[in-house]
Amino acid sequence: MHEWGADFPSYDPKGDEDARPFLWVANTGGGWYQAVGAVNFRKRNWSHVSPWGLEWIWLHPFARGRGYLKAAWPYFEQEFGDFIPEPPYSPAMRHFLLKNWRGELGDMFRKNNGVEERASKL
Ligand SMILES: CC(C)(COP(=O)(O)OP(=O)(O)OC[C@H]1O[C@@H](n2cnc3c(N)ncnc32)[C@H](O)[C@@H]1OP(=O)(O)O)[C@@H](O)C(=O)NCCC(=O)NCCS
Repeated sequence: MHEWGADFPSYDPKGDEDARPFLWVANTGGGWYQAVGAVNFRKRNWSHVSPWGLEWIWLHPFARGRGYLKAAWPYFEQEFGDFIPEPPYSPAMRHFLLKNWRGELGDMFRKNNGVEERASKL
């Protein structure tokens, strides 16, 4: 998490009931799977549209740009509704959100050309 300067622990395995973490795994053959990334959703109750925030996400550099997040996004929308991807955004995440963040909040984000200060006040 030091890669983009996060200064908070990503997940507390001891009784963190407001967290919903997911792992991406790649089938490396022979019955083995390798973890290539992870994301955590957290219950925030910040907005009227959804109680959930996408707190952090990280994919291994070799796993990036291969469509992992794009493929999982509809599932996350189904699970968490119009959740808020939490800033600050990396350039890749900003590009992703400009194309894929739907609903009222995504429209506001695009209208503001992906400037996150606005989104963080939603
Ligand atoms: C940002 C991140 C989560 C995106 O996940 P991903 O699985 O690599 O993204 P996908 O391959 O599903 O990309 C889908 C879309 O996102 C955008 N995108 C992804 N990576 C991008 C990049 N490096 N530059 C520009 N756009 C990018 C594109 O619009 C892409 O669609 P396209 O291929 O049709 O143009 C991942 O690259 C990552 O973990 N990066 C490092 C950590 C990080 O930045 N975390 C977010 C902190 S806010």
